[in-house]
Amino acid sequence: MDSYKVAILDGDGIGPEIMAEATKILDLIAERNQVNFELLPAPFGASAYFSHGHSFPEESKAICDKADAILKGPIGLSHEESKKIPLDMQPERGALLPLRRRYNTFANFRPVFLPKGLAHFSPLKPDIIGDGIDFIIIRELVGGLYFGNKETGINEDGKRFVNESLEYDEDQIRRIARVAFDTAKKRKKVLHNIHKSNVLKSSVLWNEVIEEVGVDYPDVEVIHFLVDAAATYLCLNPRQFDVMVMENMFGDILSDQGGGILGSLGLMPSACIGPKKAYYEPSHGSAPDIAGQSIANPYSMIGSVAMMLEMSFNMEDEAKKVWQAMQSVFAQGYSTPDLSKPGINAKMISTDGFGDLVTEELARL
Ligand code: IPM
Ligand code: MG
Repeated sequence: MDSYKVAILDGDGIGPEIMAEATKILDLIAERNQVNFELLPAPFGASAYFSHGHSFPEESKAICDKADAILKGPIGLSHEESKKIPLDMQPERGALLPLRRRYNTFANFRPVFLPKGLAHFSPLKPDIIGDGIDFIIIRELVGGLYFGNKETGINEDGKRFVNESLEYDEDQIRRIARVAFDTAKKRKKVLHNIHKSNVLKSSVLWNEVIEEVGVDYPDVEVIHFLVDAAATYLCLNPRQFDVMVMENMFGDILSDQGGGILGSLGLMPSACIGPKKAYYEPSHGSAPDIAGQSIANPYSMIGSVAMMLEMSFNMEDEAKKVWQAMQSVFAQGYSTPDLSKPGINAKMISTDGFGDLVTEELARL
């Protein structure tokens, strides 16, 4: 029997609630495939800071080090609550970025998937949605402004100043470019390269390397697109996109816009892949305002499980079935309060109600 160790990082806010639903799915998959998922819970995020004095404690690092894959819930506190934690220990800087850096998870996959059955959640008009929207944002995750040199201080004029640099070398760009081209090759063979080369030199180098790598992929068409224009066209005509590649900060912003297209960040799972280790997480935050009420939809967490099954454990068929099971629960008219909007006539269920229905549906597939 194959056995895999999966580190489980519940995180903060709604994290534990949605993670509980994700592990139900894993239990079912394990049982019917004769595999063993050894789940290894590890404290992470603001909750870990309060219980262990560190938002990414040593014991959690050790668990993640030995895991075959990491499943991570959202982290973070409200703006006010965050102030109770020293700046460098706040979960974004103290846990999430160190996790990305530790495992060099440079390739972040963020699918923006809106099949017709989910169209009612989207704020876009039916003629823009057409038969559905399905593209993937590939975000470079361990470079750029997030990890560049940072300096703060007082300048010669006695003014406070800050200097944060957007840093990439050609190897960092080349490896994410390869991931993007490989992905485009498996899909519609069109790659939108998102940049700002009319202003940023980082984008000039980025585009050069994209062109160089493109030589090895003659069957993939590259379309260069300015990031600001991309933001506009994600609203006006998102169906033109299939695979989009971009640097870290652009990817952070446009992937949230992807959530906007779907109608909720709650519909955005993601995969963060490094050379030796991968972790999977919802793209959204911990939603402290609705935590503990069992109203958050676990779609992004369960979708992250699907991505883990496919990308870490070669279980592509099961991954497809997990997506299918979730679509089918929505198609039967169910929803959770966090996704509901006035005018949506849904049968309202709780977080665990949704997880149970998806599990039942999956058992039938
Ligand atoms: C994301 C999040 C993180 C990021 C935050 C929580 C640091 O917004 O994964 O998109 O900016 O990368
Ligand atoms: Mg973000």
